[in-house]
Amino acid sequence: MGLYDYYEQRLFPPILDRAMRKFGPQREETLAEAKGDVLEIGFGTGLNLRYYPDGVEKLSTVDPMNALQEKVQARIDAVDFPVERHHLPADGALPFDQGRFDTVTVTWTLCTIPDAHTALKEMHRVLNPEGKLLFIEHGRSDDAKIARWQDRINPIWNVIGCGCNLNRETGDMVERAGFQIERLEQLIEGPRVFATLYRGAALPKG
Ligand SMILES: C[S@@+](CC[C@H](N)C(=O)[O-])C[C@H]1O[C@@H](n2cnc3c(N)ncnc32)[C@H](O)[C@@H]1O
Repeated sequence: MGLYDYYEQRLFPPILDRAMRKFGPQREETLAEAKGDVLEIGFGTGLNLRYYPDGVEKLSTVDPMNALQEKVQARIDAVDFPVERHHLPADGALPFDQGRFDTVTVTWTLCTIPDAHTALKEMHRVLNPEGKLLFIEHGRSDDAKIARWQDRINPIWNVIGCGCNLNRETGDMVERAGFQIERLEQLIEGPRVFATLYRGAALPKG
C-alpha cells in the first residue's frame, strides 16, 4: 500500500468521523422529512443513522468506502430499520429500478464524488416522481472574496480531503441534474471558506 493509500484508507476515515460528529443538529433537520424506502448516497461511517425519523422503513446506502467496520456496524445495529449497504461509487449506474425510492439523501458528499452530475442524474432516476431529495453540503460561497480563496485553496484541500472540493455550487448542481429546488438555505458553521453549508430539499420535476 502506497503512502497516500494508507492515509486515505486508514488515517483519514477516523479523522473525518470525529470531525463530522459535531453536525448532529444539522443532520437531524436535514433528514426530518425522510420516509419510506430511503437511499443514502455517500454513507461514510453512518453518522446520519441515528437522525432518521420514525417514518423510515428501509435504508439502502451507496459508498465505495468501507472503513471503521465495527463502529459502523454498531451504528447500524442501533437503528430499528434494515440497512442494505452497497460498496459502489454513486457516479456510475446504480443497481436500483427507476422511481424506486421515496427519499434520497446526500450529506457532505456532493463535494467529493468525482462526477457529481452523473451521480445526481442517477439519484433523479431512482427517485419516485412524488419523492424528495434531501441534502446538506458545504460549497462555494456567494461572497466573491471568499469564493476566490476557496478556488486558491482547493487544489491542496482536494489532496488533504481525499477528493473533497471547497468550491462546488450545490444548488446549481442539483438543478442542472433536473431537480426543482423546493427550499435552499445557507448556514455558516465555521470559517466560511470551509463551512459555508447549503441545506435543502429538491423535487424530481418532469
Ligand atoms: C465527507 S464524507 C461524508 C460522509 C457522510 N455522508 C457524512 O455525512 O458524514 C464524503 C463521503 O463521500 C464518499 N464518496 C467518495 N466518492 C464517492 C462516490 N464516487 N460515490 C459515492 N460516495 C463517494 C466517501 O467515501 C465519503 O464517505
